[in-house]
Amino acid sequence: MKQAITAFTISLLLATGMSAQAQPAPDTLFQALGKEAGISQIVDELIKLLMQDERIKTSFKETDMRRLAVLLKEQFCVISGGPCKYTGDDMKVVHENLGIKAAQFNALAEDLQIAMDKLSISSATQNKLMAKLAPMKRDIVIVK
Ligand code: HEM
Repeated sequence: MKQAITAFTISLLLATGMSAQAQPAPDTLFQALGKEAGISQIVDELIKLLMQDERIKTSFKETDMRRLAVLLKEQFCVISGGPCKYTGDDMKVVHENLGIKAAQFNALAEDLQIAMDKLSISSATQNKLMAKLAPMKRDIVIVK
């Protein structure tokens, strides 16, 4: 019995050692996105894309894009489990008078995916962020 436990312990130690050498997968979405620095790059890329996107760019013609970038970075950090605070307004209040259509929401989501592709974010990680954003659709889209 003693021998069996010893063999078990050794194999456990070996397994632990091996997994410590291989790169462990980041255990939170925040880490998988590259923490604050990665999120910052994603949002900057997204802002660039949406300002050129014919489907949605007119919605932002009076928006302070620097402020929007700061707030999106905070928001993505919070929803991915990062140690941040979102200082912006409620999604429903912000978007309710903008007359946003489902197609425009989808356009922004598509731009976000393009931004993440560009930054080589894995599709599993992309899907996790999209899943966090999807429930916001009901607060943002008012025109079906
Ligand atoms: C998942 C999708 C979206 C998220 C997470 C999101 C998030 C945000 C955030 C965090 C803000 C800043 C809030 C604040 O000013 O306090 C904001 C503002 C804004 N969003 Fe969105 N948004 C989304 C979709 C959209 C779409 C589809 C449009 C239009 C096509 C849009 C248009 C705007 C505009 C124009 C503002 C600025 C409003 C102002 O300056 O008062 N958003 N959004």
